[in-house]
Amino acid sequence: MIKAVIFDLDGVIVSTDEFHYQGWQKMADAENIYFDRAINERLRGVSRMESLEIILEKSHKTYSAEEKTELATRKNDIYRELLKKITPKDILVGVSSVLEELKRRKIKIAIGSSSRNTPAILERIGLSNFFDAVADGNDIKNSKPDPEVFLLAAKRMGINPSECLVVEDAEAGVEAALAGAMKVLGVGSAATDHRAHLTSNDLSAIEVDTLLNL
Ligand code: G6P
Ligand code: MG
Repeated sequence: MIKAVIFDLDGVIVSTDEFHYQGWQKMADAENIYFDRAINERLRGVSRMESLEIILEKSHKTYSAEEKTELATRKNDIYRELLKKITPKDILVGVSSVLEELKRRKIKIAIGSSSRNTPAILERIGLSNFFDAVADGNDIKNSKPDPEVFLLAAKRMGINPSECLVVEDAEAGVEAALAGAMKVLGVGSAATDHRAHLTSNDLSAIEVDTLLNL
């Protein structure tokens, strides 16, 4: 029986994933590095600096550590500017009702995200104080597919990992949940991931009872 649900943030609670893409695309264009949406798919759930390394696979130039920091900062500045557009109306379809229902049933809920911008995003969508625990890119050494962020979220809620369900849109996130011995619901880009225990395009078609009995 599931006692807690850990939600990824980008692409699960809110579509910041498109803003990540736009930020990286602008940075890559300015540097004359080939980048497209297919490469962007590989960045889901992956930390900022690891994302940059994936993008630099297409670069003909070798960048120093300082230059890499500058590129990542440049992307993050573009991304932070785009984030200003986000409001509570951007919470993805089905999310609010599932969150409310879980709370009503006294199931613990958490955020498990690789993003260092998690606090700012939760603030923008009005959910800063909504979750029982938040574990994010500021708290961890190893980003998804390592299970660290989910294990930390479980620990902060005081729930055994085997009693946690993760909701993920990233391949790396599905792997991270499985590595942490947790159940996984794959949504969005992970809706076709056969390793997940359950998949759905979004949360609107999901019965909370089904989730809790996974
Ligand atoms: C999430 C996104 C990734 C992003 C990572 C780091 O996991 O899915 O695409 O690279 O967070 O985000 P940050 O906001 O710290 O740059
Ligand atoms: Mg995600």
